Amino acid sequence: MVVYLVGAGPGDPDLITLKAVKVLKNADVVIYDRLANPEILEYAEKAKLIYVGKKAGEHYKTQDEINQILIDQGKKHEEVVRLKGGDPFVFGRGGEEMLALHQEGIPVEMVPGVTSAIGAPTSVGLPLTHRGVATSLTIVTGHEDPTKKERQVKWDFKADTLVILMGVGRLEENVKEIMKNRDPKTPVCVIENGTLADQRVITGTLEDVSKKDIKSPALIIVGHVVDIFKEIKPMKTQEVLNHERL
Ligand SMILES: C[S@@+](CC[C@H](N)C(=O)[O-])C[C@H]1O[C@@H](n2cnc3c(N)ncnc32)[C@H](O)[C@@H]1O
Repeated sequence: MVVYLVGAGPGDPDLITLKAVKVLKNADVVIYDRLANPEILEYAEKAKLIYVGKKAGEHYKTQDEINQILIDQGKKHEEVVRLKGGDPFVFGRGGEEMLALHQEGIPVEMVPGVTSAIGAPTSVGLPLTHRGVATSLTIVTGHEDPTKKERQVKWDFKADTLVILMGVGRLEENVKEIMKNRDPKTPVCVIENGTLADQRVITGTLEDVSKKDIKSPALIIVGHVVDIFKEIKPMKTQEVLNHERL
């Protein structure tokens, strides 16, 4: 009995790890959600597949319900895989799942994944740190749980580069907050569907980024490292980047 919490990588199925492929091949059950690329499920040749993501028009599973499914399946089977987009511990609630299993005495093994927060920028040629430009990085949620008593995200981060996940819905209000501490002309890059065939990369500045039609899943990268990406852009093909300027 073991549950593997496995990162599926940012989207491109080739960006999964060899270890993830190994555990998927041996899995009896795979519990997966929306951001894990379905092509990756083909490795799970003998597994029962359980989807726990959102489905149009249906109640989707709460975190407690997902934890219970993991516990039940973990008790019933030899090898269970919980497959999550990116890395399980980067805004993936993997920590909560690990603790819930641990409390039930179910062994858990972690298989890290390439997080979209870093993998998607790297894949388009956007270095999040760069000598002389950026020596620090903050990865932050753009959608803090509204039921929290006190806000933890105050948008006054000092890091040179900000990477915002889950930032599409509240882009306008968050950008207003960021501009209280940063020049409105600070460059911004949005990567929508990073590493996938329908990827879009949009560049602009803090003051104009929220005017653009951007769809989730997307990353918002704020900082002068975006200028490095703009420099290399002419060397890349349009198919690779689908790049547009605001
Ligand atoms: C719930 S978080 C999960 C993050 C995931 N654990 C990771 O490490 O990438 C979901 C957010 O990740 C970002 N994201 C995930 N996959 C993405 C992709 N292929 N392109 C752009 N953003 C992505 C988006 O900001 C999305 O709203």
